[in-house]
Amino acid sequence: MLSGKAMLAGVTGWPVAHSRSPRLHGTWIARHGLDAAYVPLPIRPEDFASAIRGLAQAGFRGVNVTIPHKEAAFAVCDRVSARAKRAGAVNTLVFTGAGIEGDCTDGFGFLASLEGYDPASGPAVLLGAGGAARAIAAALLDAGCPKLTLVNRTPARAQALARELGGPIAVSDTPPLGDAALLVNTTSLGMSGQPPLEIDLSALPAHAVVADIVYVPQETPLLLAAEARGLRAVGGLGMLLHQARPGFEAWFGVAPMVDDELRRIVAADIPTR
Ligand code: ATR
Repeated sequence: MLSGKAMLAGVTGWPVAHSRSPRLHGTWIARHGLDAAYVPLPIRPEDFASAIRGLAQAGFRGVNVTIPHKEAAFAVCDRVSARAKRAGAVNTLVFTGAGIEGDCTDGFGFLASLEGYDPASGPAVLLGAGGAARAIAAALLDAGCPKLTLVNRTPARAQALARELGGPIAVSDTPPLGDAALLVNTTSLGMSGQPPLEIDLSALPAHAVVADIVYVPQETPLLLAAEARGLRAVGGLGMLLHQARPGFEAWFGVAPMVDDELRRIVAADIPTR
């Protein structure tokens, strides 16, 4: 039951009907008994900046930003966090008395989803060079990853990303798996309706962690292959859940938890395979 003082937030996208964020934030709102609502906000690309300013004027605490607005969100901000600058994108807007603040929590969400993996513990191999790859690569490097190799269908895109991020980052045609402590898929391969990711995992060391940011289906062919080899496999659902934490806390003043019950609720309609 909302009062006249209810705290408001939501997710902006075009389209936005597929978003699981309302269910995720709604679960947290109910758990904490907050006088708050989190709603889907379909906004056309050409209307993005004016709609965001209107939401701020209407008293919203802030919004999440999803496809295709993550770069446009950067431009609408009065201030942008250091990690959003590194990621070149904004997925969380906080409306304050001082203006619109932008953050990118995707890299944070990814690292948190690895639960206990130390990025400094060894080399990482990252497949892909798009927006998700950029946020994850920046987060890995900033957390002390000693060597990061990008492998992408379009090598020039990976080279541009490596140049922009700087640090111990290189581009390769073939994934150097022999000494990898972490392998991450940030491409859309393996997603429902897309071809599977074809990669031979046999060269990975036994301690390697394999992560896939794809979460539809939950068990991608890559994760199944990793498990068949006895490797730790981490799906993309955890990144989705953890990236939502900083925004929820900034808007509603409560730090929410990610646990198995939340996973079950948010993943209820996501096919396993
Ligand atoms: P996102 O913002 O989700 O990362 P993106 O910017 O479109 O999305 O990036 C998609 C990534 O998946 C890219 O690395 C893309 O490779 P290209 O840079 O060569 O386009 C990769 N990708 C998508 N479809 C692919 C396919 N069929 N084979 C190989 N890589 C693919």
